[in-house]
Amino acid sequence: MNVLVVGGGGREHALCWGLAASPLVDSLYCAPGNAGIAQDAACVPIAVDDTVGLIAFCREKKIGFVVVGPDNPLVDGLVDRLEEAGIHAFGPSARAAVLEGSKAFTKELCARHGIPTATFVRVRDIEQARKHIARATLPLVVKADGLALGKGVHIATTREEALRVCGEMLDGSLGAAGKEVVLEEFLTGEELSYFALVHGEQVLPLAAAQDHKKVGDGDVGPNTGGMGAYSPPPLLTPELEKRILAEIVQPTARAMVAEDRKYVGVLYAGLMIVNGAPKLIEYNARFGDPEAQVLIPRLKSDLLTLLMAAREGVLHKVNARWHDQASLCVVMATKGYPGSYAKGSVIEGLDEAAKSPDVTIFHAGTTKQEGVWKANGGRVLGVTALGKDVADAQAKAYAAVDRIRWPEGFCRRDIGWRALGTRRGAP
Ligand SMILES: Nc1ncnc2c1ncn2[C@@H]1O[C@H](COP(=O)(O)OP(=O)(O)O)[C@@H](O)[C@H]1O
Ligand SMILES: [Mg+2]
Repeated sequence: MNVLVVGGGGREHALCWGLAASPLVDSLYCAPGNAGIAQDAACVPIAVDDTVGLIAFCREKKIGFVVVGPDNPLVDGLVDRLEEAGIHAFGPSARAAVLEGSKAFTKELCARHGIPTATFVRVRDIEQARKHIARATLPLVVKADGLALGKGVHIATTREEALRVCGEMLDGSLGAAGKEVVLEEFLTGEELSYFALVHGEQVLPLAAAQDHKKVGDGDVGPNTGGMGAYSPPPLLTPELEKRILAEIVQPTARAMVAEDRKYVGVLYAGLMIVNGAPKLIEYNARFGDPEAQVLIPRLKSDLLTLLMAAREGVLHKVNARWHDQASLCVVMATKGYPGSYAKGSVIEGLDEAAKSPDVTIFHAGTTKQEGVWKANGGRVLGVTALGKDVADAQAKAYAAVDRIRWPEGFCRRDIGWRALGTRRGAP
């Protein structure tokens, strides 16, 4: 079967890497992909929002299955358009992707169906906001309703700050995403990303990971798209996993069916574990990045078989089997990220760094010109290693990082610190 992956970041590289290993795949394409992805799939210069171009390409290449990576095309209905054109595609419809596309929708869904989450109010104008903020407990979490490229959440420690940020969002600082704002209770605990494949009420548990959102060691500085991850997190005991499925994932899958929004795809629950109890922070309607870069190398089962089973609604017929090893991914970014940064710096040593069979380097933003790798984005590489436990995976990942010669790049040195009980991380 010919397969197309839509997207061009580290997540899509991990998906392509996993799919390239499938005996069911004849030709693998990625639109638009990147220079690193081109090692595993044929990249075609079609943008993720070029629905007409993607459909024409699928027809030309007789694509039997499309995997949509990023959130925007899902929320915009790319899977609906592909399926209408008779092309099988993995991912939720626009009606179901609203779980990611509208935080207010998800909060209301949780309220209607008794799914544990932080208490909240929705506000559409500054007067409503002022009233709520005057009596809210601090800190207060201020969230734009819509997709905001990871810039839509602000934790305000004073009422003035909450009101200011909320006002800016309502005034359009984030475009349409902030037309409506959710003000929610601040939860204290440890965060966990949990992944399951879903088709209607069928749920196939996958695995969990922990991400590192802040740019600096010790979780300081501004938020990013993710600076590293590891899996499995020791925090996820079998009991906790049971509760996540029974209290959050399964009720959500049932609720979506009951509300005529049947969900098909991977459901990524962003959770806060509060005194041992899981609470939903948000849903994403896709694999995470960098989480995909640690989950997919641990997967022993055939990735395409699982994704196809999710689309077809036969999740009871498949199993997700995992390697015993742990995996850990260190993201390397261009200095300046998540602020402004330069493009085009030269990266050397990638081949030596990837020599160990336990190490895979996923590319989020690179180009290759006359054999020379160059950085082409903020987050650029995901250096991933498998190891007998998180500590071993961490040591191998940083050993690979240290073979990469890229003076304009940086990474956090403490990925995995929660699992290892130290903020110090690797040497
Ligand atoms: N209710 C909350 N309590 C504490 N922290 C929160 C809460 N909601 C969000 N956060 C923090 O903000 C981050 C981003 O929020 P999230 O809802 O996941 O939005 P997005 O990923 O779309 O930016 C979370 O990963 C978490 O660290
Ligand atoms: Mg999030």
